[in-house]
Amino acid sequence: MSHDLFEAARAAMAKAYAPYSKFPVGAALRTEDGRIFTGANVEVASYPEGWCAETTALGHYIMAGGGRITEIAVIAERMAKCSPCGGCRQRLAEFCQPETRLYLCDDAGVVETVTMGEMLPYAFQGDMLK
Ligand code: THU
Repeated sequence: MSHDLFEAARAAMAKAYAPYSKFPVGAALRTEDGRIFTGANVEVASYPEGWCAETTALGHYIMAGGGRITEIAVIAERMAKCSPCGGCRQRLAEFCQPETRLYLCDDAGVVETVTMGEMLPYAFQGDMLK
């Protein structure tokens, strides 16, 4: 991975609105044509109504027309290798392939690389619902 995806996730993390958990998270997605979409977590006073950084990034990606996602980076200020929550794994999987790379980062860069297939094996898939 070139360092720019990590830097995009880290810049997104700086925009997190996380006054309750004080756990800022940033995510960045790259599509095969090189576009990068970023997101941060957004919390609200009614806690379950907040959402994750990955979900914000997916919203930007969809509104820009989507495309094939090739790489994902996630970073959290207070945790090295912050791993996407279960809900975000399912949301990301909707727009990725099992071989799509996911970079778990710390404040300096990528710490571990996994695939979406490893993150969400036996995923529920919507093909038969279409
Ligand atoms: N969070 C994310 O943004 N992404 C994840 O994959 C894990 C959790 C956020 C949600 C909440 O704002 C904060 O981290 C603490 O759970």
